[in-house]
Amino acid sequence: MGGLARLEYRGYDSAGIAVGATQSLTVVKAVGKLANLTSELDTVGPLEGRAAIGHTRWATHGQPTTANAHPHTSLDGDLALVHNGIIENATQLHASLLAEGYTFVSDTDTEVVAHLLAREFLADSEDGDTVGHGVEIEGVPEDAAGTAGALARAMNRVMSQLDGAFTLLAMHAEAPGVIVAARRSSPLVIGLGKNENFLGSDALAFSEHTQRALEVGQDELVVVTPTAVTIIGVEGEPATKKFLEIDFAHDRVTKDGWPTFMEKEINEQPRAIADTLADRLDAEGYLTLDELRIPSEVLRTVDKVIIIACGTAAYAGHVARYAIEHWCRIPVEVELAHEFRYRDPVVNEKTLVVAVSQSGETMDTIMAIRHAREQGARVVAVVNTPGSTISRESDAVLLTHAGPEIAVASTKAFTAQITATYILGLYLAQVRGNKYIDEIQDYLDKLSEIPGKVSEVLKRGELVRMTARTLVDENSVIYLGRHVGFPVALEGALKLKEIAYIHAEGFAAGELKHGPIALIEEGQVVIIIVPTPRRPELHRKVVSNIQEVRARGARTIVVAEDGDESVNEFAETVFRVPPTPTLYAPLLAVVPLQVFACELATAKGLDVDQPRNLAKSVTVE
Ligand code: M6R
Repeated sequence: MGGLARLEYRGYDSAGIAVGATQSLTVVKAVGKLANLTSELDTVGPLEGRAAIGHTRWATHGQPTTANAHPHTSLDGDLALVHNGIIENATQLHASLLAEGYTFVSDTDTEVVAHLLAREFLADSEDGDTVGHGVEIEGVPEDAAGTAGALARAMNRVMSQLDGAFTLLAMHAEAPGVIVAARRSSPLVIGLGKNENFLGSDALAFSEHTQRALEVGQDELVVVTPTAVTIIGVEGEPATKKFLEIDFAHDRVTKDGWPTFMEKEINEQPRAIADTLADRLDAEGYLTLDELRIPSEVLRTVDKVIIIACGTAAYAGHVARYAIEHWCRIPVEVELAHEFRYRDPVVNEKTLVVAVSQSGETMDTIMAIRHAREQGARVVAVVNTPGSTISRESDAVLLTHAGPEIAVASTKAFTAQITATYILGLYLAQVRGNKYIDEIQDYLDKLSEIPGKVSEVLKRGELVRMTARTLVDENSVIYLGRHVGFPVALEGALKLKEIAYIHAEGFAAGELKHGPIALIEEGQVVIIIVPTPRRPELHRKVVSNIQEVRARGARTIVVAEDGDESVNEFAETVFRVPPTPTLYAPLLAVVPLQVFACELATAKGLDVDQPRNLAKSVTVE
């Protein structure tokens, strides 16, 4: 249950576990958050067993009901299965199982696999505990060896019948200390303990118990007992065990006295940015990115950068575009990962693709990376989760050191992503000779002042929170920004939508007169991100935009630099941020918008960390 709690951010509309004791499996499920399953377990009483599988669900096939919750079982109840991902040929398989007389109690694709596995298990005609090309399964007690072997062989055959992405974990009543698992395009890691082993879709699940972990490769099959792990490769051969470095201290995954993870994570931003910036210079002051295993000669031939990401990570990419184009004079495109491969993008070996992802498990981004690499592009992953699928499938990894982000609404990952992509931009500028070393040092010096400035913005949070509390009854909020303020407007609006359930839209301020201004009526709340007055050509125009909406009755909330008095006349409220270079302004301006959304959602009594309908990692396309 502790492991499931750590994974609950991936989905929380229902949950369930199966516990294997001698000759029986007990399955307990509940709709809603994990707390409901805990209550249900309290009524069942203590369960004993040698192994258990559990799941928290984000509904794809069928509504969040107890029947649709995992684990799903075979008709005889002897076999239980949990599943992440989507089985794309589930409809066809369902039809053929129905024709064979199988009945279904759920609407899920997972139940189809449970029946398929049971069918293959029963049809197994071999003896013993070997699988694949005679690989012996380790650590299985003699009385369970035949069942474990049959289950592993059944899983092997089932895998070849499935299309789509999946991680599957199964157990059988007659082998209660054995878990058989398989993965394709969906994450699975193994935690190695002493007389206990773990499986998780994220190492966070078992980081409290062990930090020794093994990767499971594409299409590999795994048999885990308390004392042994057997991994079988795609061709049925014993697979080489690949160890994973896990560096999450488990105490960093608690709220540390904050009421919500989101508040804690907003307040961790100074450290997240500082940690992402740390140790990037060599003794001579050159920016070094050892982890960027792409030779400088290759980086010098790059003629286009494409940033692929989703949601908040894509907005970080939009911010990065301004900086990379300015510093490196290379065209930069920013593309939503799920749109990228369907538009037949022009990608070749001179394209550098930068995939940005907090979780490193976003399926849309994974698929876009695969497409880019097939076309010959080099892919640099900017990820926050070491060992994640995206970090493993990319040519190089630039880690954001934000620490685990648990709240569904991304905050510290956003500012860490901007920081990391800026480092990448400066590195490209250095390698390609666009900037001299002293210029790069100057940019980095200014960047290193950002954590202190973010702390200053956080100290001023009370005005933001007070303002948010007055707006709980709003139905719509508009965000405006220009230049790097535009993606900040988009991000501010996304935060409000996802946690406060208020319709919010971010617009490029210059676009206002081309349509959105029609939305402005008396009392409409508009939040405007104002650029520094040291960029008068930008500043002037945004101040005009504030006047334009104000003239039409809008209630204006303005994010502006200290000392910029020109906005006072047109702003109902001003959230102040310390002066900073234009390109770094998003790292400050976004903070009051995060605090605003968090406080407004809290004042509405909503679950800030786990908003409805969402999951932290979107692991299906
Ligand atoms: O884990 P990723 O950074 O790849 O996730 C991308 C988006 O799903 C994510 O940023 C999402 O938009 C957040 N809920 C936004 O707060």
